[in-house]
Amino acid sequence: MKTFSLTGKLAIVTGASRGIGEAIARKMAQSGARVILVARSQERLKTVAESIRQAGGQAWPVVADISREDQVIKMVEKITRDFHRIDILINNAGIGYALPVPETTASDWDLMMNTNARGAFFCSREVFKVMVEQKISGTIINIASLAGKKGYRYQAAYCASKFALIGFSKVLAMEGRDYGIRVHLICPGGVNTEFIRKIRPDIPPETLIQPEDIAETVLFLLHQSPSVVTDEILMRRFTSEVI
Ligand SMILES: NC(=O)c1ccc[n+]([C@@H]2O[C@H](COP(=O)([O-])OP(=O)(O)OC[C@H]3O[C@@H](n4cnc5c(N)ncnc54)[C@H](OP(=O)(O)O)[C@@H]3O)[C@@H](O)[C@H]2O)c1
Repeated sequence: MKTFSLTGKLAIVTGASRGIGEAIARKMAQSGARVILVARSQERLKTVAESIRQAGGQAWPVVADISREDQVIKMVEKITRDFHRIDILINNAGIGYALPVPETTASDWDLMMNTNARGAFFCSREVFKVMVEQKISGTIINIASLAGKKGYRYQAAYCASKFALIGFSKVLAMEGRDYGIRVHLICPGGVNTEFIRKIRPDIPPETLIQPEDIAETVLFLLHQSPSVVTDEILMRRFTSEVI
């Protein structure tokens, strides 16, 4: 069996200060990648980066709000200047909370759309340009959700943002193919993080997917044979309804 390594690869993981993004960053660093950790909270990012380094990995924190176009442009410019290449982008940063439609305000709608859909678009566009310029056959993995495949009560803005992300990813995958850039979607159900405790407090914690399960799936996608591409992976809690 081939041993899998990400040694030499430069990976950006957004939303890496906790939860799924942190687990993905740790797993990628264990596989040898140099990992850029992106989020808004500097202190949490620093703590994650230090702990990855203590475990023998390579990680650097970069503070950016992905919903701000100017900050994303600056972030990608800085990473390209400092590291000279970008091989992998994991669009994981996201926000969601539950509200009935009549109580959903314009700012709730904008916050979820601007982070989950627009933010992932900004990061993808800027990284895509670098990959094309550098002729890098890179990989972009978008962490969407099962809420991007079906409706969930009280999650109108969140579902809309994840449906939008999935639509965007489909087109990115088509355009990426022209340059050897692979685009994958992972659509998880409930994962054991701070996020799910806010949006779905009704789910018994012992039935949740673990963040490490998503990280393993990212590694699976990254080491698939070059002759195949898995466009999307739907991961549901075993005790939940079949999609
Ligand atoms: N947990 C689940 O059940 C579940 C299921 C399906 C899909 N997902 C998706 O998986 C992703 C990660 O979720 P999670 O459960 O790990 O959530 P989480 O624990 O709340 O973590 C979210 C991460 O995103 C970052 N973030 C949020 N807004 C940001 C912004 N504007 N700019 C930069 N970073 C931002 C947060 O850091 P800062 O606050 O420091 O910026 C944090 O690192 C999200 O896209 C979520 O929609 C989660």
